[in-house]
Amino acid sequence: MEVFVAALADLADRERRVIEVHGVEIGVFRLGDTVVAYRNRCPHQGGPVCQGRLMPKVEEPLAADGSALGLRFSEDVVHLVCPWHGYEFVLSSGEHPGAPDLRLRRYRTELRDGQVYVHV
Ligand code: FES
Repeated sequence: MEVFVAALADLADRERRVIEVHGVEIGVFRLGDTVVAYRNRCPHQGGPVCQGRLMPKVEEPLAADGSALGLRFSEDVVHLVCPWHGYEFVLSSGEHPGAPDLRLRRYRTELRDGQVYVHV
């Protein structure tokens, strides 16, 4: 089943809509020119993960000798942080960055004529 979400132009980059389809909440996020959608249920203990904060991934680059150069925020990778216990998920993939088997339930999205749809 295809569900209309919004016009792409009505979503700013990294803006979200949480919609409900037959009692299931789905978070839909714009990421540049693409859109991703996940069930609003955290795989940890069921929290409303799609209503969590978006944060840049924290990275710790290493020097050639292996020493740490300090922490920095990624300019490319965004994490969605579950509001219940802080589990983080890569927004573009829905995967937990340290345990790829732990992932959000993803829904197929479609952009057609400037409109965003989710297939459920
Ligand atoms: S329910 Fe999401 S981190 Fe625990």
